[in-house]
Amino acid sequence: MTEELDLKKYIREIPDFPKPGILFRDITPLLAEPKAFQEVIDRLTAYYRDKQITAVLAAEARGFIFAAPLALALGARFIPIRKPGKLPFETKAFHYELEYGSDSLEMHTDSIHSDDRVLIVDDLLATGGTIAACIELTKHSQAEVVSCAFLIELAFLNGREKMNGCDVYSLIHYAAE
Ligand code: PRP
Ligand code: MG
Repeated sequence: MTEELDLKKYIREIPDFPKPGILFRDITPLLAEPKAFQEVIDRLTAYYRDKQITAVLAAEARGFIFAAPLALALGARFIPIRKPGKLPFETKAFHYELEYGSDSLEMHTDSIHSDDRVLIVDDLLATGGTIAACIELTKHSQAEVVSCAFLIELAFLNGREKMNGCDVYSLIHYAAE
């Protein structure tokens, strides 16, 4: 078996972005290295392959990057969650707090079925506001949230506390800023 890549090497740290005091974890170097990007999708696929996932749900924009290839690899439906006013059909909205302010997310009301086994994917777990909104939107459809997957978890922001004990799988952890 080939050795796992150290994915942290592909995350670039940008001090004081988007505002002073914030250390931004930039995923673009990882996206620009096909072997690292592929390994992310392969590791997530291996973890979820036997978990009977029927739908992979993600919030725009960065969540889409990982969720779409993972959905295809798992043979599951991809469900886009979008910022307000972008989805054309009937929508359900959820308002949430973000690390740098507040926002809301919307999903199509017919996108999740009550018997779905849902995997929620995002690039980053920070305060947990975004993922909590995605969990609430999923539960509105009475579907089961099987797990939430992240490329990066900022453990020191305690985002897991907003996730009501949901299973979490993250590939890269930062214990401190
Ligand atoms: C970023 C990131 C996560 C979220 C994590 O998204 O992609 O979705 O913040 O933060 P939280 O755990 O505190 O909610 P952002 O809303 O900045 O937008 P983007 O994905 O469109 O870049
Ligand atoms: Mg995002």
